[in-house]
Amino acid sequence: MMLVVLRVVVCVHMLMLFHFVCLSSHSCHPEENSALLHFKTQLITNTTSYEDYYYYENCRHVYPKMRTWENGTDCCTWMGVTCHPVSGHVIGLDLACSALQGIIHPNNTLFHLTHLQTLSFAFNDFYGSELSSQFSKLVSLTHLNLSGCGFEGEIPSQISHLSKLQSLDLSFNYGLMWKETTWKRLLQNTSCLREIVLDDTNMSSIGPTPNPLSLIANLSSTLVTLSLVYTEIRGSLINDILCLPNLQHLILRGNKLSVHLSELSCTISLSILDLSYCDIQGPISSPFSNLTRLTSLNLAENHLNGSIPSSLLNLQRLTDLDLSWNKLSGQIPNVFDRITNLQTLSLHDNNFQGMLPSSLFTLTRLSQLDCSYNQIEGPLPNEVAFSNLTQLILNNNLLNGTIPWWPLSFKSLRYLDLSNNQFTGHINSQIKSYSLEYLYLCDNKLQGNFSESIYDLVNLTGLCLSSNNWSSTVNFSLFSKLQKLEYLSLSGCNSLLLESETSISYTFFNLYVLQLLSNNIIGWSKFSGKFPQLEYLELSNNKLEGKVPKWIHDIPSLFHLKLSHNMFTSIGHQFPWYQFDYLDLSFNLMDDDISSFFCNATSLKVINLSHNRFTGTFPQCLANTSSLVDLDIQMNKLHGNLSDTFKHRGLDTLNLNGNQFKGLLPKSLSNCTYLVDLDLGDNQFEDTFPHWLQNLSRLEILVLRGNKLYGPIANLKSENIFPSLIIFDISRNNFSGSLPKAYIQNFQAMKIVDDEVRSRLVDYIDTSAGSGVRNIRPEYDNSVIATIKGANTPFAKIPRAFVNIDMSENKFEGDIPDVIGELQALKDLNLSHNRLVGHIPYSLGNLTNLESLDLSSNMLTGNIPTELTNMNFLEVLNLSQNQLVGPIPKGKQFDTFLNDSYGGNMELCGLPLSIQCNNNVPLQQYPSSEAEDKFGFGWKSVAIGYACGMVLGIGLGFCVFSIGKPQWLVIIFGGKRIKRRNRGNRRARTT
Ligand SMILES: *[C@@H]1O[C@H](CO)[C@@H](O)[C@H](O)[C@H]1NC(C)=O
Ligand SMILES: *[C@@H]1O[C@H](CO)[C@@H](O)[C@H](O)[C@H]1NC(C)=O
Repeated sequence: MMLVVLRVVVCVHMLMLFHFVCLSSHSCHPEENSALLHFKTQLITNTTSYEDYYYYENCRHVYPKMRTWENGTDCCTWMGVTCHPVSGHVIGLDLACSALQGIIHPNNTLFHLTHLQTLSFAFNDFYGSELSSQFSKLVSLTHLNLSGCGFEGEIPSQISHLSKLQSLDLSFNYGLMWKETTWKRLLQNTSCLREIVLDDTNMSSIGPTPNPLSLIANLSSTLVTLSLVYTEIRGSLINDILCLPNLQHLILRGNKLSVHLSELSCTISLSILDLSYCDIQGPISSPFSNLTRLTSLNLAENHLNGSIPSSLLNLQRLTDLDLSWNKLSGQIPNVFDRITNLQTLSLHDNNFQGMLPSSLFTLTRLSQLDCSYNQIEGPLPNEVAFSNLTQLILNNNLLNGTIPWWPLSFKSLRYLDLSNNQFTGHINSQIKSYSLEYLYLCDNKLQGNFSESIYDLVNLTGLCLSSNNWSSTVNFSLFSKLQKLEYLSLSGCNSLLLESETSISYTFFNLYVLQLLSNNIIGWSKFSGKFPQLEYLELSNNKLEGKVPKWIHDIPSLFHLKLSHNMFTSIGHQFPWYQFDYLDLSFNLMDDDISSFFCNATSLKVINLSHNRFTGTFPQCLANTSSLVDLDIQMNKLHGNLSDTFKHRGLDTLNLNGNQFKGLLPKSLSNCTYLVDLDLGDNQFEDTFPHWLQNLSRLEILVLRGNKLYGPIANLKSENIFPSLIIFDISRNNFSGSLPKAYIQNFQAMKIVDDEVRSRLVDYIDTSAGSGVRNIRPEYDNSVIATIKGANTPFAKIPRAFVNIDMSENKFEGDIPDVIGELQALKDLNLSHNRLVGHIPYSLGNLTNLESLDLSSNMLTGNIPTELTNMNFLEVLNLSQNQLVGPIPKGKQFDTFLNDSYGGNMELCGLPLSIQCNNNVPLQQYPSSEAEDKFGFGWKSVAIGYACGMVLGIGLGFCVFSIGKPQWLVIIFGGKRIKRRNRGNRRARTT
């Protein structure tokens, strides 16, 4: 009865309201009119910010609404202004995405509009404004949206005066900070709050107990939506918050939460739960399965492990499930028939194994499926029930068999990625997915010709067909039918014959990446295609010859060019250097005189001209190219002095190895403070040691080998000498005096043993290349030829785990300093062919990572310290041509070395030598106990070393005997992968 009365009253009110709206057109109150006009004068309209992606994403419709505000007209008619139909007061102000710019000061007349109920300034530019306490004067506010405004500073505690608030959005104000008391008061005073969106504001000062979430759970029961993305909440997620009676959307992405959910006994309204990137550890716990109303569950980017509990898939209403970027493993449960509403499923970047479950393919509504980067195997089924598939992403798995008809037939499919699997067979069937924008089939074992119908997929923007066994003849011009194409990769197809010449000219209007590496491309000196937008062109590893063709010179937008490993003989004098950023011409037969090259090249960052026959002097114009990061001109026929004009602070790599440069070393290199890799080896430089390089704090590689450098290396007293150096090669010079003890003492980086592969072989994807582009990896092909284990080994890249000192073939005198034993990370130490005297320091036994030790051809005396047997990885030992005496140590690696390790030492005895030791041989100089004290050999480490050494000894011994010379590093040339034969052993040691 009461209810009926109430309804009647409401209806009468509504009628009266309607009446007023129609009959009385209240005009704006003058004081509000002028407050608004004054507000307008405080700000400017500036649409520049909206060119930003961030604003663009959030503001599809930017309109400078305030332009309609004019003095003399009724403010109630202005855009963005709403007046109360009865009182005429301004009750709503919506200026979202209005291109406003300026500062909101506390004395702004905005704060006179005390009747305001809704206020939105979302996505305007008020950078530098504080969130004024004056906002609290707007006590009638029910909706306040200040997202993306650039407000900063502490959120004023007076915000809690807005007791009628139903919706508060302060998201994307990166400089806004919460205080615990403010947050508490706000929750206490606002009994109607339904929506709180505070993404990217800073709550780090609240908690951890109570944390912002537990405070909500205690204080707010009206809440429907809570979004606290990246708010730096610490503490735990407990049942209470999930049990809020009205909560439907809980979005906590990007907070470090520990999750302590027990079985839930409350009734749950939650439909959207986002706990992605929350640092959650352990298996997926069962309480998630009790959230029966969930439609969307996002647990991506955590550290979840174990398998998916099949109970999780009891969530019948689920439409979106994201478990990607975790460590989940096992089979994906075959129970998808329970969640027939599923539309998107993301399981990528986990360790799932086995086949994709058959029930997955019965889901009729599935639109997006991403299981990429797992270890899923087996063939795809021949029939599926999907009716609306838009994305099928299964790349980087172990799928095999032939590609069935259906992925290539869906009219709705836009994104198909089956690359990096083991698919075989032909693609003969007609591809009917005309909606396809991305088609990635690269890195499989597909054969034959690819279907002609590929050229009819006119919506394609990305096409990758690389690394398959295609065998046919293809006229390259056909791809120009795909007018939207931005990315085309057709690399690694040896049996595919790509023809370039046609009589008709054609244009790739949108193509900006073209990869045609490692094919059998011959010819292509003439080309009738045009590439008005091409930026990346990669033609390495083909059979191109003669001059670099004119069509390449003529691509106006090109800035990244790879032509390495071809047979080009000349780059030509007209080459447009100025437009390039990355240029790789290495491993060709080019013999141009480069002395005057690179003029006007102001954006060149990476230049690799190595392994050619270039002549002339060091190109002078490069001295002015301040953008230069990486210059590799090793192994050419360049000559002359280097001018002393280096001033590129950003230079990272300079490799001049294997030319005929002479004269002094350029002191100006000390200006290159970012230098990491300096190789001046195998030239004819004549100078003293460049001690002026010692303050380059990033220098990791210094190679001066094979020059005419001379004189003693001064023992400078400085704290921070070469702190990052890991390769120090000054061999084959005329250095004299004692070994540089002060340097050795300061090689800090060589003291850090880091078993993580500290490799410079970083795969890196150029994100700037855009979403349609994969595998663009500007590899910095600088190579250092390090003398390793007595053989020159060309590296495509120096692996960072390689730590090496080579001071051989000089005239060094005196003792081997003890401190060398502190360089624990050393892999290779060569002091041979000098005039060193004294004993082998027992501290060398501390170098437990050493793989090669060469002290041969010196004048060393005394015993071979038994401590050397601690070097469990030692594969090569050369102590020959010294004056060592006494027994050869026994055990572990020492049982694998042959006679030539010791030749020319007249008084050594014991195996492998045929001279037997008699008891008159002098004892060791250093008793082992002393060594233990000083260098901390505990019996534990010795024991562990011993256990592994046995295994190693056998393994390595076998290698040495069967191959003769140990083959250390297998280099896949061009592939830039370095296999370490003893990797397994190292792992065994660390476990
Ligand atoms: C609006 O116009 C009136 C009369 O023309 C003037 O007195 C007033 O100052 C103006 N207001 C503003 C804010 O410009
Ligand atoms: C407009 O905004 C841009 C970016 O914030 C700024 O650089 C520019 O100076 C502004 N223009 C004016 C006229 O203030």
